[in-house]
Amino acid sequence: MKIRVLGAGAGGGFPQWNCNCHNCKRVRSGEMRAKRRTQSSIAVSSDGRNWLLFNASPDIRTQLETFPDSHPREGVRDSGIKAILLIDSQIDHTTGLLMLRESTVPLEIYCSAPVKQDLSSGFPLLHMLEHYCTVNHHLVPLDGSSFTIPLIEDLRLYSHALKSKAPPYSPHRNHPHPGDNIGVIVEQISTGKKLYYAPGLGEFEPHVEEAMKSADCVLVDGTFWQHDEMARAGINDKLALELGHLPQSGEGGMIEILTSATQGRKMLIHINNTNPILDEDSPERKKLDEAGIEVSFDGLEINL
Ligand code: MLT
Ligand code: MN
Ligand code: ZN
Repeated sequence: MKIRVLGAGAGGGFPQWNCNCHNCKRVRSGEMRAKRRTQSSIAVSSDGRNWLLFNASPDIRTQLETFPDSHPREGVRDSGIKAILLIDSQIDHTTGLLMLRESTVPLEIYCSAPVKQDLSSGFPLLHMLEHYCTVNHHLVPLDGSSFTIPLIEDLRLYSHALKSKAPPYSPHRNHPHPGDNIGVIVEQISTGKKLYYAPGLGEFEPHVEEAMKSADCVLVDGTFWQHDEMARAGINDKLALELGHLPQSGEGGMIEILTSATQGRKMLIHINNTNPILDEDSPERKKLDEAGIEVSFDGLEINL
């Protein structure tokens, strides 16, 4: 299985256009050893030709242009991206759909019912897109059962609901519905290798633990180092969990979870620009290194 990290940043990316926080400032001035990151998305394939896109980031144009396997091969219009799976309806994960409007083949979009509802109401992207191209909807199961996707050869997927957060424009923002956010296991049928992908994870539930234990590579929520990171940076008083993200540090945090529940490769994605782990020389980054946890970056390729 081939996994391409298209964007490893959270909403806003790194640096964020209007942010002058400790990290954004220093990456612009070149004072810090750190990689810039676009907004959250990956692509997965078994053959390197037909790719399943996870999330469509506002940065998708650049992400695909710098990803040769996605480029057109045949005819005047073509793409290596054969289907799109949305793990939630947040701006950073869905706005890129508008950039795919030139598609001459139907956009095959896989998501949960609450995500489809958000994208047809609070943020009516799907209705807008239908004026440009055909959109085929496919609902993903929430009970952990498996499904396959035509053209995405040799991959089997299992999706389940996660406790995280629907976006501010969602009718469910303050009334969580199962499926506002999902986690996905991607299994290569011929090899049995598994990836677990969950960029928005607010609670370590038993089915999450099971998924992590079964995976050869875990690519999960790396948004915040600590609960009150936004307040410490002087940005706002929203806590990590209020935004649906489990921080890495502290009791019950992601470091503890990954240390106890995973045997395979442990990686973080969806990293917010305030997170000290972006600084490759920070003590926080050193703690991750010691725990064997990697920080993913744009353009990273993982082979399982
Ligand atoms: C989140 O996951 O909380 C988002 O990155 C928020 C956003 O995109 O604005
Ligand atoms: Mn996000
Ligand atoms: Zn910043």
